[in-house]
Amino acid sequence: MKVAVVGATGMVGEVMLKVLEERNFPITELLLVASERSVGKKLTFKNKEYSIIGLADAVAAKPEIAIFSAGGDTSLKWAPKFAEAGTTVVDNSSAWRMDPTKKLVVPEINASELTKEDKIIANPNCSTIQMVLALSPLHAKYKMKRVVVSTYQSVSGTGVKAVKQLENEIAGIEGEMAYPYPIGRNALPHCDVFMENGYTKEEMKLAREPQKIFNDKTFSVTATAVRIPTAGGHSESVNVEFENDFDLADVRKMLHETPGVVVQDNTDTNTYPMPIYAHDKDEVFVGRIRRDETQPNTLNMWIVADNLRKGAATNTIQIAEYLVENNLV
Ligand code: A2P
Repeated sequence: MKVAVVGATGMVGEVMLKVLEERNFPITELLLVASERSVGKKLTFKNKEYSIIGLADAVAAKPEIAIFSAGGDTSLKWAPKFAEAGTTVVDNSSAWRMDPTKKLVVPEINASELTKEDKIIANPNCSTIQMVLALSPLHAKYKMKRVVVSTYQSVSGTGVKAVKQLENEIAGIEGEMAYPYPIGRNALPHCDVFMENGYTKEEMKLAREPQKIFNDKTFSVTATAVRIPTAGGHSESVNVEFENDFDLADVRKMLHETPGVVVQDNTDTNTYPMPIYAHDKDEVFVGRIRRDETQPNTLNMWIVADNLRKGAATNTIQIAEYLVENNLV
């Protein structure tokens, strides 16, 4: 496959290159793409040096697949140009996610919807991916009615500037601020921008994307998204009410048997998911699995994943792998 990585110099782009290398993605030619600022810069992939090229050159090279993580504006402008040239785009930005003509894919859940006609495919939000992967076997068996999620999101989800802000604060250095307030020793109930309804964009992504991924509007999600001073890894407290009652042992067993999910749940040994364990891993970790004792058919759990991996790069590359394996590009 001739593959373009758009946003190769970014935080997610860097992890994308690492994941492509680790998973030995079938690459015959690699195009590393970034903004004009970076054209000519060098990056290494599998011990070989590559020069960064610009978007127009990348479109002209007609790659079979382009994986994008270069922000929504770049995707809106350039993904259609790649698609017109015959390239299949897998996009990590929020640009196309809720477009009814585009698929929103978590491969373990709905990759089978993909066809050769899908030229722009959207990768869900990082917080959505880890939540729906853990909920998918439970929804299939018990049918979700309502989900209440509170997130504890790391600064790496915001980008390089936010990681630098946290590092500067820890080192006691004054520098550029990515957030309106200090993030070290703090928690900001403010991920992405506020909308007219009082929620943030991140919260509305968590509310809307799961319905599209499950192709089911019979359940609802309400969210509070909070930025905390963790370098990498998003955590979520999830309360889910089902139509049908469940057995806790069955819940654990089903989660244990779900590909991509790891159960870490033993209160005797203080075993529960944490960002430091999820770091650099592709799996979604689930623990603190317990019955909500205040209402029937309701479960509480704690879900953690590396937001740059399964939340971004890995999921995008799994979509690309599915396309290749099923001759869809
Ligand atoms: P560049 O490094 O040249 O700015 P992050 O989210 O970590 O900031 O990374 C964003 C990625 O998207 C980077 O690789 C960045 O390239 C790329 N990017 C940002 N704006 C554009 C643009 N207008 N055209 C192409 N790539 C862009």
